[in-house]
Amino acid sequence: MEIKIKNLSKAIKDKELFTNISESLHPKDFVAITGESGSGKTTLLSIIGLLENWNDGFLQFDNYTFTNPRGGTATKIRKHKFGFVFQNYGLFEEADVQKNLNIAFTSKVSQTERQNKIMAILQKVNLKVSVNQPVLTLSGGEKQRLGVARALLREPEVLLADEPTSSLDDHNAEAIVTLLKEFANSGKIVIVATHDARLIKAATKNIHIAYPR
Ligand SMILES: Nc1ncnc2c1ncn2[C@@H]1O[C@H](COP(=O)(O)OP(=O)(O)OP(=O)(O)O)[C@@H](O)[C@H]1O
Ligand SMILES: [Mg+2]
Repeated sequence: MEIKIKNLSKAIKDKELFTNISESLHPKDFVAITGESGSGKTTLLSIIGLLENWNDGFLQFDNYTFTNPRGGTATKIRKHKFGFVFQNYGLFEEADVQKNLNIAFTSKVSQTERQNKIMAILQKVNLKVSVNQPVLTLSGGEKQRLGVARALLREPEVLLADEPTSSLDDHNAEAIVTLLKEFANSGKIVIVATHDARLIKAATKNIHIAYPR
């Protein structure tokens, strides 16, 4: 997928968060959105993911141009092309690991294939938990790796990840950086909001939000 971000501006109430952000993104791009806490990283990521409205400018995904995130085409793109890793993980806390990962699959994927893919991804994110363990019993860092695992299982064209290494120790953070980098290199676009120097270093592009404004 090709993404064009053109003169994007966002204000919340009367407070301007950012103005005139422009960038073109192509397959294999690994983009770091940087800026201080409160600068608007999560907001920008949500806007690019067509989850939140903006004030000015437009977004283009292949041949589709959007001046707002509403409508059927936006919903389809969000559902079929994007994968999200949320800052608060976005998992179903009451359900177990298996159920949370099963959400990533379409009905076409067989039970055996699901199990194989689940085992492979859990190993890649270095998650040594039972698939029957309820998510609410996992540690913060384990939940974070489960969130990344689920997003990768869906193999989205565009992966949007909000601080995907924020709860991780060095070793586990490195593993996630490597995985995301590999995923981008396989022809996808990866966009991360982050403070993590390792992610910023691995990125091919940087969108920096100036703060204080
Ligand atoms: N719905 C809202 N109503 C009022 N203010 C909001 C709303 N959503 C976000 N904000 C404000 O917009 C600013 C940017 O928030 P955002 O979550 O995008 O920052 P961030 O860069 O992701 O910060 P962090 O690094 O702490 O995650 C913050 O000051 C936040 O309080
Ligand atoms: Mg944030």
